[in-house]
Amino acid sequence: MEVIVVESEAEMARIAADAVEHLVESTEFPVLGLATGSSPLPVYTDLIERHRSRGLSFAGTTMFLLDEYAGLARDHPQSFATFIRDRFSGHVDVRPESVHGPDGDAADLAAACVRYESQIVDAGGIDLQLLGIGSEGHIGFNELASSLSSRTRLKTLTDRTRSDNARFFDVAEGVPRHALTQGIGTILEARHIVLLASGSSKSIAIERAVEGPVTAMVPASALQLHPHVTVIVDDLAASRLRHADYYRAAYRDKPPWQRI
Ligand code: GLP
Repeated sequence: MEVIVVESEAEMARIAADAVEHLVESTEFPVLGLATGSSPLPVYTDLIERHRSRGLSFAGTTMFLLDEYAGLARDHPQSFATFIRDRFSGHVDVRPESVHGPDGDAADLAAACVRYESQIVDAGGIDLQLLGIGSEGHIGFNELASSLSSRTRLKTLTDRTRSDNARFFDVAEGVPRHALTQGIGTILEARHIVLLASGSSKSIAIERAVEGPVTAMVPASALQLHPHVTVIVDDLAASRLRHADYYRAAYRDKPPWQRI
């Protein structure tokens, strides 16, 4: 894992947006994995700005969401499909039909999960997956005790996840109890994974994910098994990392031509 400790939100956004820009400029049919939540928002803002100011184009890009609440239709105001359209995809030139998410409103949710896995495979797999991390160490909606080889499926949300996400809903009881999420096995098939975390509320999850043992009790720790993961954290999220000085030195000494 490469761990990059940044000094500002803008720096975090720039490094991740550079990786996305390189992907979309150098690949004929780029496939981008998107996360919702607050962590990736500065990256989306930066990419929208690059699109507006110098024409960075997503016209040929296919996008896949990590997860979706069960029971919410695509156009529900709190669905992740709406979130990503309002915060990112609706502001760039990606074709709306090229932005995919699990169908949380399907009559047969298990079949919708299988279909989603096939859509990802048919697109050639995900080139770059952006990830946030839950305060208990989940990725997507893979809550603790998720199988490290899980595929897209229905998961029950923990009380902590529901309360963390209540800020996006009018009333806390409105947060659905279930969600469809790419599995950990699905996420690990992305060719490059960029995990973003900021603030002290993420410091324990980051410490466990990066420096703790690989365990289903901390789903993000499974990323240690992937050959190309970049973890970008601010000082607060990095505050419990025992080897932060080493990560800083390694990034400082990296040749400028070597990308994340
Ligand atoms: C939700 C999402 C995750 C996200 C996490 C953290 O649970 N399903 O994909 O990483 O929240 O969100 P935030 O970035 O807002 O802290």
